[in-house]
Parts: sequence; C-alpha cells; structure tokens
Amino acid sequence: MPTVADILYDRKDAPLAALPPTATVREALQMMADRDIGSVLIIQGDSLLGLFTERDYARKIALKGLSSNDALLMNVMSAKLYVVSPRQTAEECMGIMTHGRTRHLPVVDGGQLLGLVSIGDLVNAMMNKQRFLISQLESYIAGDLA
Ligand SMILES: NC(=O)c1ccc[n+]([C@@H]2O[C@H](COP(=O)([O-])OP(=O)(O)OC[C@H]3O[C@@H](n4cnc5c(N)ncnc54)[C@H](O)[C@@H]3O)[C@@H](O)[C@H]2O)c1
Repeated sequence: MPTVADILYDRKDAPLAALPPTATVREALQMMADRDIGSVLIIQGDSLLGLFTERDYARKIALKGLSSNDALLMNVMSAKLYVVSPRQTAEECMGIMTHGRTRHLPVVDGGQLLGLVSIGDLVNAMMNKQRFLISQLESYIAGDLA
C-alpha cells in the first residue's frame, strides 16, 4: 500500500500553495486558479493555521453574498484540521477523508508542515499500485504458459 511519503516523493518539486491569514479570499482564489488546485494552506511563519478550499469559498463567501476582495482568510479558513503523517498509508488517509468529510489533508511530522495530499493524489497512487500488481500477475501468468 502506498504511503503519504511515496506520494510526496513523486512530486517533490511542486511547492506548497500557501498564504498568510491576512491575505484576502480573492488572493487565494487567484492562487488556486493559477495553480489549477482546490486548496490553499494558511500559514504564519512555520505554523499551520488552517486550510481554505473551494468548498469554503462556496459556503462561506458565495452563498452569503460576501465580497472576496474584502474577506480575510483568517475569518473564513477551516481551522479545525485533520492532518496525517508521512508514514500513514493511502488507505488510512481515505478513511480519514471519509470520516472527516474533507478532500485535502496537510502532512505534518514532528510539528513541521511537509506537504498536502488530496483525494485525487490518493486515488492516483492506489490505481498505480493496482496497475503494477496487475502487470506483475499478467507477466506471471504469461511466463507460466510459455
Ligand atoms: N493524475 C494525477 O496525478 C492527479 C493527482 C491529483 C489530482 N488529479 C485530478 O485533479 C482533479 C482535482 O484533484 P483533487 O480533487 O484531488 O484536488 P485538487 O485540485 O485540490 O488537487 C490537485 C493537485 O494539487 C495539489 N494541491 C492541492 N492543494 C494544494 C496546496 N495547497 N499546495 C500544494 N499542492 C496542492 C494536490 O495535492 C493534487 O496533487 C481531479 O480530477 C483529480 O483526478 C490528478
């Protein structure tokens, strides 16, 4: 089973999308659009304070008719976060996402923010693992018949 560390290793060059709590929702939307991603981490110095996602925007800004130019991330971010360690498996993360009704999990180790995994990352990692197992079985069967 792939681990969080495997997923982070596969895209080690991609920087985290993060903003300070004093940034506006508009800045977060721009960052998400530029990077074609669905979340922005809210950090101050080395501290992870929260996460702002497309869902937060839909429910806390758009639905309430608020202006993304005026709203600050500190007032609309999700501050109660589920986090995972690099040693956890993709399957464990899936369980946490299902239980916590979230699609993004920051990765933290020893108090240090290491990255983030999304639901798409987990599905992709699990599919790759299954593809590998199927190809192994196919070569085994072909080898057996030859
Ligand atoms: N082919 C792949 O490797 C792959 C990986 C992930 C997602 N996807 C696809 O992208 C679409 C949306 O993906 P999603 O629902 O997982 O969410 P998403 O759009 O938020 O995530 C897309 C990618 O951006 C990364 N990302 C998200 N927030 C980030 C942040 N704050 N800092 C740094 N990286 C961040 C995720 O880890 C993921 O790799 C889906 O269609 C999914 O299938 C493909």
